[in-house]
Amino acid sequence: MRKPFVAGNWKMNTDSHGAVKLAEGVVSGCGETAGHKVDVAVCPPFVYLQQVGKALHSSHIALGAQDVYFEQKGAFTGEISAAMLKDTGCAYVICGHSERRHVIGETDELINKKVKAALAGGLLPILCVGELLEQREADETADVVSRQLRGGLAGFSEEKVAAITIAYEPVWAIGTGRTATPEQAQEVHAMIRGLLTEMYGKKLSQEIRIQYGGSVKPDNAAELMGKEDVDGVLVGGASLKADDFVAIVKAAV
Ligand code: PGA
Repeated sequence: MRKPFVAGNWKMNTDSHGAVKLAEGVVSGCGETAGHKVDVAVCPPFVYLQQVGKALHSSHIALGAQDVYFEQKGAFTGEISAAMLKDTGCAYVICGHSERRHVIGETDELINKKVKAALAGGLLPILCVGELLEQREADETADVVSRQLRGGLAGFSEEKVAAITIAYEPVWAIGTGRTATPEQAQEVHAMIRGLLTEMYGKKLSQEIRIQYGGSVKPDNAAELMGKEDVDGVLVGGASLKADDFVAIVKAAV
């Protein structure tokens, strides 16, 4: 049985006061649900990680970062290493989010290096994959997702892969209010699990969690997570309201 995993990606939102308030709201709203029945993480902007970490301190809610650089240290102006994130209290890090792929221009090769650096630094990566609308319309979803998955996981042993969460986030559903139907999500999740079985065997592929992301809201979360291969959700917009995020966490149980 895979324990559901719900993570909030705050993106470039909040300020220091709002970030702490939001974290406090998530802690009090989730209560005992977090950690016991469902794994929960929030991923604030880098600059608020420490303050949010403090607000999460007495809870079972984990801290995550939205990105990491692959080098360990040195002259990489503006970048943040896995060791720094670990030092700040992060357990998770998002790698290859579609906004980083399509807005910032990250490639599968770079994302693979980031996932490797995250694991080497003791972080649990959330590797995001997902197709653009034109790719879905051209029937290329399976090809695109499989290329991103194989690229992102290139060179990983079975032992390492077990620590990774995959997030399937169709780009056309992110921030658009246009959620994939539970059936569309399940179809791609099953395909991803099939690929993981090919790559790492059945036992391991049954253990790896695959989150869905893209306009997840309190009113569609339960139905999405009700699907066999949807093991949780990665939430953007709705994670900025404590009540909505808490309702999504509760929908996972
Ligand atoms: P959204 O974002 O929930 O606002 O669509 C999801 C994500 O980008 O992780």
